[in-house]
Amino acid sequence: MESLLSKENVEWREKTRAIAEEYVRPVAAELDRTGEYPWKVMEVLRENGITGLWVPKEYGGQNAGSLNLCIVVEELSRTCGGVGVSYAVNALGTLPILMGGTEAQKKKYLPMVSTGEKYASFCLSEKEAGSDAGSLKTTARKENADYIINGDKKWTTNGGVASIFSVFATTNPDRGTRGISAFLIERDEEGFEVGKREDLMGIRCVPVNETHFRNCRIPADRLIGGRENSGFKHAMMTLDRGRPGVAAQAVGLAQGAFELALNYARKREQFGQPIINNQAIQFLFADMGTRIEAARGLVYHAARSVDAGTKDASKLAAMCKVFATDTAMWVTTEAVQVFGGYGYCRDYPIEKYMRDAKITQIYEGTNQIQRLVIGRSILREATATDK
Ligand code: CAA
Repeated sequence: MESLLSKENVEWREKTRAIAEEYVRPVAAELDRTGEYPWKVMEVLRENGITGLWVPKEYGGQNAGSLNLCIVVEELSRTCGGVGVSYAVNALGTLPILMGGTEAQKKKYLPMVSTGEKYASFCLSEKEAGSDAGSLKTTARKENADYIINGDKKWTTNGGVASIFSVFATTNPDRGTRGISAFLIERDEEGFEVGKREDLMGIRCVPVNETHFRNCRIPADRLIGGRENSGFKHAMMTLDRGRPGVAAQAVGLAQGAFELALNYARKREQFGQPIINNQAIQFLFADMGTRIEAARGLVYHAARSVDAGTKDASKLAAMCKVFATDTAMWVTTEAVQVFGGYGYCRDYPIEKYMRDAKITQIYEGTNQIQRLVIGRSILREATATDK
């Protein structure tokens, strides 16, 4: 994998790894226990020009693309999955603006996230609209020069700290997915409220909230792209670009758990020798290492496809999400097994990896939905070849 990375990729990786080792690893257990947002880490990322990595230079970012974003997320997640998503969700929150926003919206909102001054969030899911995102019920009604938003959102990652929210609402309830539009909501908007914070199994340092809209009046120029009814496509295109990031988070978690377990297996003695001397344990590491390398290869391939804008980028994004997150769940579970009874205790850092890994199989589309996206793409490609 090393030789396949550019000098720039390696530089981002080394820079982020050094930050993660110095600022994330020592506080990961504490952040998990207290649920405190990683303010200090985000500040260091900001000082090092890592916030806004995916944003073009004219909007204050680094224009470094999806592959470098994945590399950074992987390195942060290698030491803490919660920090990985705290950082990455800003990309998810700003991608709708980046891909579909007007020039004025890009100029106004992107620089404040690029510079790390403000955080962003993505509000698509609702209580009754999870996998079936197109069935969302939040409405946006045009009234003169304003829109009035009403409804409730669920699973707003970064909800407690974000200042900018990309919100999906229906402007034409009769038109299904073709009636959904995307809006920009600012935190202090009247009628907008960040509600209950979820008590999560893992990624505990990032606030995931409910968000509520009660006659929330916003100016019409907050309609992303200035056009109604293209919101669902923007949401899907955003997720196509976000999913390699979740997969990278999973690769980082798997790699981090692998390293901890390997260290432990080399030191832990039973029956008069380190447990790594047992072939059963060596074979386990052989399988873990192989699957991690395969997952990383697929994630980087998908990220390169996103950067190049290839036709199969959506399918590859879903494929890498399924493969890498299932790998992370398996590797982190086996890593706990290597630690035996100690692995089940919070005194050791390994069980957190398993808890952090679980969400990667669920958010930004469950792995069942990814398989649906992959299946539909394969069928579409086959039909196109028939013609
Ligand atoms: N790019 C562009 N357009 C797309 C697209 C894509 N990848 N996928 C679908 N579309 C378009 C279709 O072409 C179609 O367009 P037309 O109306 O012109 O025909 C339209 O969108 C509707 O598409 P479908 O008929 O395929 O829609 P569907 O209702 O069957 O749903 C789905 C498709 C893939 C299941 C989608 O609902 C989905 O991805 N669900 C999962 C949602 C999800 O990932 N939620 C996570 C939210 S984020 C989160 O977890 C919280 C967080 O903050 C981290």
